[in-house]
Amino acid sequence: MSEIAISKKYRDICPDTVARVFAAERAKYKSEKDADKAARAHLHQITGAFMTPDEMKTADKLLRAYKEGDGEAFEKTLRLHSSTRERMEGAQALYEHILNAADSPKSVLDLACGLNPLILGNMGLTVRGMDISGGCVRLVNEWARVREWNVQADCRDLLCNPEMEKADIAFMMKLRPVLEQQKKGSAMELVASVPTDMICVTFPMKTLGGRKVGMEKHYSEWFEGNLPHEFEMIERFIEADELCYVARRCV
Ligand SMILES: C[S@@+](CC[C@H](N)C(=O)[O-])C[C@H]1O[C@@H](n2cnc3c(N)ncnc32)[C@H](O)[C@@H]1O
Repeated sequence: MSEIAISKKYRDICPDTVARVFAAERAKYKSEKDADKAARAHLHQITGAFMTPDEMKTADKLLRAYKEGDGEAFEKTLRLHSSTRERMEGAQALYEHILNAADSPKSVLDLACGLNPLILGNMGLTVRGMDISGGCVRLVNEWARVREWNVQADCRDLLCNPEMEKADIAFMMKLRPVLEQQKKGSAMELVASVPTDMICVTFPMKTLGGRKVGMEKHYSEWFEGNLPHEFEMIERFIEADELCYVARRCV
């Protein structure tokens, strides 16, 4: 596939990510066709699988409906991204628990945010989000403008451009499996590099297909066994089928 075709087909994904993934797959395969097929599958796995192009279109329609007074459009939008959809039922308890454990932060750095900044903005928090999905970033910024929240998202690849702003807390929600599929060791490197004193790291307890396969044990052992020494763990709990840790940097 030519560079132009690549950029056209994947224009909704951060260009750094598209270039990184295609280059990595081409280094692995002899045949360009096989490499392109693998790159497309990988891009789907790390971003497209969470919110499809059709769901993006539905989200655009819902935003228009909201502007015309549809009171259900906001919640329906949150259900279009698999990660926010999965936590909808217990979301209030989940966020109350995180915010209480973290001494009521006012500003959040939301790493690989999906549509999560919509929930945080709706709670009155200041949010700086980033994600490789241009569609999610655009939706977050549109909703923030319409609702007049102090919320802004950037289309950015955490593995290419990890520059981050200061905030009271960094959220790394359900990101570990997705990041490790891209670069082994990168998830804990990211934990160590956040410019905040507090961090909230969460893990899915089910696969995207809904299966529970020992994920609590697996992720607990990984997080508790590898958390850098400069962090102390403040809280561990499970809400909304999400394993959640809040930790503080103590040096
Ligand atoms: C499982 S979803 C979690 C979304 C959000 N954190 C939540 O819990 O609601 C993973 C998100 O990571 C984004 N993503 C994947 N790789 C990324 C990378 N290298 N840099 C930034 N975002 C990435 C995807 O586009 C997707 O929105």
